[in-house]
Amino acid sequence: MLERAHSPFLSEPSMTTRPERRTFAIISHPDAGKTTLTEKLLLTGGAIHLAGEVKARGAARRARSDWMAIEQQRGISVTSSVMTFERDGVTFNLLDTPGHEDFSEDTYRTLTAVDSAIMVIDAARGIEAQTRKLFEVCRLRSVPIITFVNKVDREGRTPFELMDEIADALALDVTPMSWPVGMGGEFEGLYDLARDRLVQSTSNARGETSFTTMQAAGLDDPALAGALSARGRAHLEEEAALAVASYAPFDLAAYRHGDLTPVYFGSALRDFGVPELIEAIAAYAPPPRVQPAEPQPVDPDDATVTGFIFKVQANMNPQHRDRIAFMRLCSGKFTRGMKLTPTGHGKPIAVHSPIMFMAQARELADEAYPGDIIGIPNHGTLRVGDSLSGGAPVTFSGLPNFAPEILRRVALVDPTKSKQLRKALDDMAEEGVTQVFHPAIGSNMIVGVVGQLQLDVLIARLAAEYKVDARFEPSPWDTARWISAGDEADLKAFAALHRGAMAADRDGAPVFMAKDLWDLNYVASKNEAIRFSATRERR
Ligand code: G4P
Repeated sequence: MLERAHSPFLSEPSMTTRPERRTFAIISHPDAGKTTLTEKLLLTGGAIHLAGEVKARGAARRARSDWMAIEQQRGISVTSSVMTFERDGVTFNLLDTPGHEDFSEDTYRTLTAVDSAIMVIDAARGIEAQTRKLFEVCRLRSVPIITFVNKVDREGRTPFELMDEIADALALDVTPMSWPVGMGGEFEGLYDLARDRLVQSTSNARGETSFTTMQAAGLDDPALAGALSARGRAHLEEEAALAVASYAPFDLAAYRHGDLTPVYFGSALRDFGVPELIEAIAAYAPPPRVQPAEPQPVDPDDATVTGFIFKVQANMNPQHRDRIAFMRLCSGKFTRGMKLTPTGHGKPIAVHSPIMFMAQARELADEAYPGDIIGIPNHGTLRVGDSLSGGAPVTFSGLPNFAPEILRRVALVDPTKSKQLRKALDDMAEEGVTQVFHPAIGSNMIVGVVGQLQLDVLIARLAAEYKVDARFEPSPWDTARWISAGDEADLKAFAALHRGAMAADRDGAPVFMAKDLWDLNYVASKNEAIRFSATRERR
């Protein structure tokens, strides 16, 4: 059964006195409406006051980071940010992922810092390539997903087609939480199935839109006849009722486990479905969870302050080599000035001027709680994947490196700059901007990226920040896999036999480079003792 007549907020009373946090990201294919939805979420959450500010903000951010000419040329933002808003006692941290077709490990890593995700789908296009890729990353980490089918005000596929596509393409159970009354030109409003409410809009002569909400007794409530056309009413009575009967009932545990996605229909542009979405995040999306770590998992209620770095942003100002490390707080109450020690680096860092990323301005944080993101200015000490602790050392696991999809040999225009090149690539590997592989044979380093855009960014940054003129040359390899084996002798034998295709990543872990997927599969089939993995978890 659908959960009906429940309070939309905080359906599960928190067992702790910790402030409520929902830390999430939006995943989508470009043009599905992520920017528009982000803007409307911030507006509805009261974080910004004028529509259009998210884009304006993006432009302002681009102006700030003019060191990265590539961002301007392409008119996109390569870097991610964090937006925070509050509603009814819940603080929402929305982590932005770059909305470009090419995307980097940065995007993936951002998904390691969230507790849940919203998947935005264009009603006319259904599941698209990037949505699917990002979804796979979420699945890898069992990140629960709420689906928002956007643009129901336009002609699209039928809601049933969309529901079935999501279920089939992603192998998930789907539960309709709202249902559009007609689509495109026939769109008459949105029916909230969980609370039996019909939301409609009217526009006056000046083009101003107002919304009405009608409480109904059910899909067959005769009172709905007054609000809808005969066709609209038939839609609800037949289609929506059929949808409720045909799909899995909402099951909070299945959603939180990543096996089921509740589906909300709406139009970000026309403000349909956005409040329902916020309420859904507050009510269903998980609060900060226990994080896998060594020597033991970290509970958000633990008193010791701990967190991990999921992103490092360098050179916001080219004159200063300052960096902001983005830390996701996992436990404890952080207060300004606190000392945190990065595991393995030894020296404690006093965090005097942490940055909270509010929707409009970067603000100094006085305190932060599990689920919050704080920016820690530093001079390059903190690296992506670092774990920090205010007490005993901890090491968070599960910040994976991803198999690169493009491998290029790096060639220097001026061979005397090889030291600078190595330093530059090491720096950028540290930031998670690229992966660097050192082949077993030959001295040219190989960079691995997951999108073409990353290569352009690398060349631009090498020239602008390190004064190194480099170019990328095709490499004989197309993809790479981290290898391991139960028996170390098998690994050694394999590496010796395939020396020409072996490399080490920057931590020295062995990597096999393959000409193409066919080659990879062939070699894998001949070497069953070897595990080939597309991700490598850093410990
Ligand atoms: P993205 O960040 O996912 O890339 O998408 P974005 O929000 O920029 O939206 C892509 C296009 O889709 C924009 O149109 C936007 O106005 C439109 N859009 C977003 N949500 C809806 C919706 O609910 N209904 C309809 N009909 N359109 C929607 P554009 O023409 O490319 O840009 P703009 O000139 O409107 O800014």
